[in-house]
Amino acid sequence: MFRHDIIIVGGGLAGLRAALSAASADVAVISRVHSLRSHSIAAQGGINAVLSENDRWEDHAFDTIKGSDYLADQDAVEVLCREAPARLVEMENWGTLFSRTEAGKIAQRPFGGAGFPRAAYAQDRTGHHLLHTLYEQALKNGIKFYDEWLITRLVVDKGRCCGVVGYNIANGEVIGFQAKAVIFATGGYGRIYRHSTNSIINTGFGCAVAYRAGAPLEDMEFVQFHPTTLYGTNILITEGARGEGGYLVNKDGERFMKRYSPHLVDLAPRDIVARAIKTEINEGRGFEGGYVNLELMHLGGGKIKERLPGIRQIAIDFANIDPIFKPIPVQPGQHYSMGGIASNRNCETAISGFFACGECSCISVHGANRLGGNSLLETIVFGKIAGENAQVYANSNVFLEKEMIEKAVVEETNRISFLLERNKGEEFFNIRDELKNILDENVGIFRNEFDLAIALDKIRELQKRYRNVYVRNKGVIFNQELVNVIELEGMLDVAETICLGAKARTESRGSHFRFDHTQRDDAGWLKHTIITFMPQEPRIDFKPVSITMFQPQKREY
Ligand code: FUM
Repeated sequence: MFRHDIIIVGGGLAGLRAALSAASADVAVISRVHSLRSHSIAAQGGINAVLSENDRWEDHAFDTIKGSDYLADQDAVEVLCREAPARLVEMENWGTLFSRTEAGKIAQRPFGGAGFPRAAYAQDRTGHHLLHTLYEQALKNGIKFYDEWLITRLVVDKGRCCGVVGYNIANGEVIGFQAKAVIFATGGYGRIYRHSTNSIINTGFGCAVAYRAGAPLEDMEFVQFHPTTLYGTNILITEGARGEGGYLVNKDGERFMKRYSPHLVDLAPRDIVARAIKTEINEGRGFEGGYVNLELMHLGGGKIKERLPGIRQIAIDFANIDPIFKPIPVQPGQHYSMGGIASNRNCETAISGFFACGECSCISVHGANRLGGNSLLETIVFGKIAGENAQVYANSNVFLEKEMIEKAVVEETNRISFLLERNKGEEFFNIRDELKNILDENVGIFRNEFDLAIALDKIRELQKRYRNVYVRNKGVIFNQELVNVIELEGMLDVAETICLGAKARTESRGSHFRFDHTQRDDAGWLKHTIITFMPQEPRIDFKPVSITMFQPQKREY
């Protein structure tokens, strides 16, 4: 058994930032992949912060809350926006190579739903630069890393978290980790959908592990679809492309966004742009196959090469299109999980000693729809807070007895052996494929009661079939099939909670649009959904939204 004061699960931006703020304690980061392969590396367009004297944190907060369709907890948004400038400058001081203005200041570009050009950027590889900076700092501070481990259990003893159980992907060992405090920074659950910008590691397994251990999930129905993903592969084509002046056209050559958002046009919030594109396609104004065009040619080769080199290369490599000369075919794709492990603005969860930050958490600063540029910000603001609070907790608590962890190790070892011993049954990829299809088709941008009910039935049928799943590869060295099989159970749990939340919420708000309830309903639904794991059937409860600054208004752009 390993033992550390604080264990952080997840080596992306939120996990690394948490590790740095707790670095004076005995901290270890356990990660499914090497930190530099975490999904944070894929973030492109920018990170929001008020850096100009013409901008105010209150305006950033207002844009975020309006963008969230008034579901964000405003006390948490205040923390996010007030902290942003200091966290960003800290990253710059630690070495992030932000793009610069002619005057040498950190450059900022317009992003969707923002009333000010507030997204600082490093070309269109912002996540890459931030992640390398934090990884360097983690090495400098001697943070201990356990790379390529899958955490399969969060161990809780009388309401207090006392450690985790991990499966070592490199050699198949199952080992316990004892801790005084545990932080999950395990990322989102995009890969339960077929069309997603997410890395294939983003299965939501961290959320599922926390849920099974008794930490409820919040607002799971709010799934963000990015408007512009590359047709064919769904690789992200940054909103920064529209921030730099790019625009969308349908097959008739029309700049259709004018009809959907007369004021912000192509830079409306993502939920609005994604619905607009989908509507154009559904009503026959998209190109054959289901896409619209993103035009950048008018920006000129110089600007594209300087500001958007990453997406140019992606378009060349994956679609054989150079955006200097031709438009990029794009379609909406799943991009971000607004829901996650229910956490307060101190990153505390329902389980004592267990904290969550980053995309796996729902703090909730994004409410029903996240603004572009706020997720990178969330990782460094709330990563820092999670690390600090975990350290305070660890300083005032002792290690619990090891028995619960030892028992959990035996149970997890048996569970894995059982999976490996079975020689016939269901193939995991059939179940996973069906899951992805049902989510894409029935729990996508447009929803209704009928489709959601079918999806829920289907997911429950898949859960039953999962009980008979088997693994062909019996090896212990890098058995990725086994990892996929273990994660699939969590994907099914997460999908069930999304459907339950979406079915319950009989209104349209932010990313959750229902054809059978097309209006936002503040009287009935200005509240969060909270789903708790129960052995028979999940339980759904509700929690009020924290409204401290801005009363809900009609959302027009
Ligand atoms: O479009 C983008 O560059 C994505 C940014 C974000 O999700 O915040």
